[in-house]
Amino acid sequence: SDPDALQDFCVANLKLSNDTPINGFVCKPASAVTSDDFFFDGLSKEGNTSTTFGGTVTPANVLTFPGLNTLGLSMNRVDYAPGGLNPPHSHPHASELVLAVRGELLVGFVSTSNVFYSKVLKPGENFVIPRGLVHFQYNVGKGKATAITTFDSQLPGVVIAASTLFGSKPDIPDKVLAKAFQVDEKIVKAIKSKF
Ligand code: GLV
Ligand code: MN
Repeated sequence: SDPDALQDFCVANLKLSNDTPINGFVCKPASAVTSDDFFFDGLSKEGNTSTTFGGTVTPANVLTFPGLNTLGLSMNRVDYAPGGLNPPHSHPHASELVLAVRGELLVGFVSTSNVFYSKVLKPGENFVIPRGLVHFQYNVGKGKATAITTFDSQLPGVVIAASTLFGSKPDIPDKVLAKAFQVDEKIVKAIKSKF
């Protein structure tokens, strides 16, 4: 769901774009572009699965793979320990296609009508997450699991539900979260201490 490109490609010059923010990234001169700009091997290795949630997302988006600039697509590799979770999050700028390539993954999202749609995926199976909706993947198999996720944006953006609400800086007042979740402020403080 990114805008259409106006040229064949526009390999991002990320450094220059930092100094000159636009909607996207400025292009490196075409005369300086080589085959290497269209190549990325960052998804070839398993990510560290010994993390808090038992999983890691390795991104191939415009920030790691500047050749994707203006092309409207990107991809992640997600590795999960047994019981590992890619916690509830959403992507403001893209729909997501989840392809299981190893193990068994419970994949689900919640619609704006609060309906939970989910499936357990085996290798070779897909599930689609509509843009902007909160979703997760949870490894329900015995061994490790891996998914390849693809997006219709060069930079899908990610809003992680728990850290957005309980880990923002500055933080959301305890009173607001206590009222929103209908719990005591002590519980809010306890959750905040983890983010
Ligand atoms: C999975 O949900 C991902 O965003 O890669
Ligand atoms: Mn996602």
